[in-house]
Amino acid sequence: MNEQDTPTTGTEVAHTDGHGDAVRLDQGHVVGSGGIPERFANPGLPAHVPRMADLAEAAARRAEKQVATLFGISILSTLLFLVLYFAIDVTQTVFIPGIGTTSASNVALGLTLAFSMLGIGLGAVHWAKTLMPDEEVVEERHPMASSEADRREVVRVLAEEGGSSQITRRPLIKYTLGGALGLFAVPLVVQVAGSLGEMPQKSLSLTWWHGGPSGPGEEPEFRPLRLMKDPENTPIKASDVTIGSVFHVMPEGLLPDPETGEGGADHLLEEKAKAAVLLMRLDPAVIESQKELDWGYQGIVAYSKICTHVGCPVGLYEQQTHHLLCPCHQSTFDVTQDCRVIFGPAKRALPQLKITVDDEGYLVSAQPFREAVGPSFWERG
Ligand code: FES
Repeated sequence: MNEQDTPTTGTEVAHTDGHGDAVRLDQGHVVGSGGIPERFANPGLPAHVPRMADLAEAAARRAEKQVATLFGISILSTLLFLVLYFAIDVTQTVFIPGIGTTSASNVALGLTLAFSMLGIGLGAVHWAKTLMPDEEVVEERHPMASSEADRREVVRVLAEEGGSSQITRRPLIKYTLGGALGLFAVPLVVQVAGSLGEMPQKSLSLTWWHGGPSGPGEEPEFRPLRLMKDPENTPIKASDVTIGSVFHVMPEGLLPDPETGEGGADHLLEEKAKAAVLLMRLDPAVIESQKELDWGYQGIVAYSKICTHVGCPVGLYEQQTHHLLCPCHQSTFDVTQDCRVIFGPAKRALPQLKITVDDEGYLVSAQPFREAVGPSFWERG
């Protein structure tokens, strides 16, 4: 219908419907100065149209089966995810046109997880569109705090509407939805648990300073290791360390040959991340801890470089104050007092490495770290 508006005064607009017949609109229109309506009356809601499932139980049962099928797809996909997680070798690859060669495990797990989520999502949408009540509801504005009577009414309505979603009458939906949602969390738990690696208690308690590789299943016999400058990979004589100097140190055997790149740890970064040590020389007179003096050599002391807050490398040594600073959150450690924390969020001192010298005067470890390096964790003794 091609309607043409004709402005009138007051709160009404008369217009023609294209055939010259005048049409009077509802009360409630407000006409602006140019005759253009500024506000329209509320047209109300269209009449409710019942769906097939509202009219015929057979259609409702059909919808129920469709919803259950979608939740069933989610269940199957989740189970398939679990099987493929263990069945596919992570090194296996697959060629996908348009993408190229990629990890077969990632593709399989991604697809099964997608279908798992899709099944739940589509099932819920289809359930809402076919079986749940679809009447439009208008709620007038009301004061923010509801009265006690309103709250009781809400509880009553929720209880009633819970029944009208038909979940109690449709056990197939209830059980398949429960299964789909329950199983959906399992891949996440399995994947996270399977990817965490070993517990930190062992991995952070064992470093190359024990005498060699510190990976899973390795527990080497302790042997003294020379302290090597990083990255030069050269041993350090006690006489080379002057008061105020600081060295970044790794254990002997961990770093590859700097010229040929050969040798060194198989898992170089992991080993370096745990074994890094700072070596400093202080005037023994300023060291306040007898244990620190005993574990050092003539004022030369070695401490783990891994911050005990969340594991950043402690990088800044203040020669005048004998403080070590972590750049991440400003934890400050006092080297004259067993590297105890004097500022910042770290909760424990940096672990000290006991050192001595060998027959040739080179600095060597006298024992491995006596406690786990790095950040706190719940099993830490
Ligand atoms: S990691 Fe060192 S202060 Fe936070």
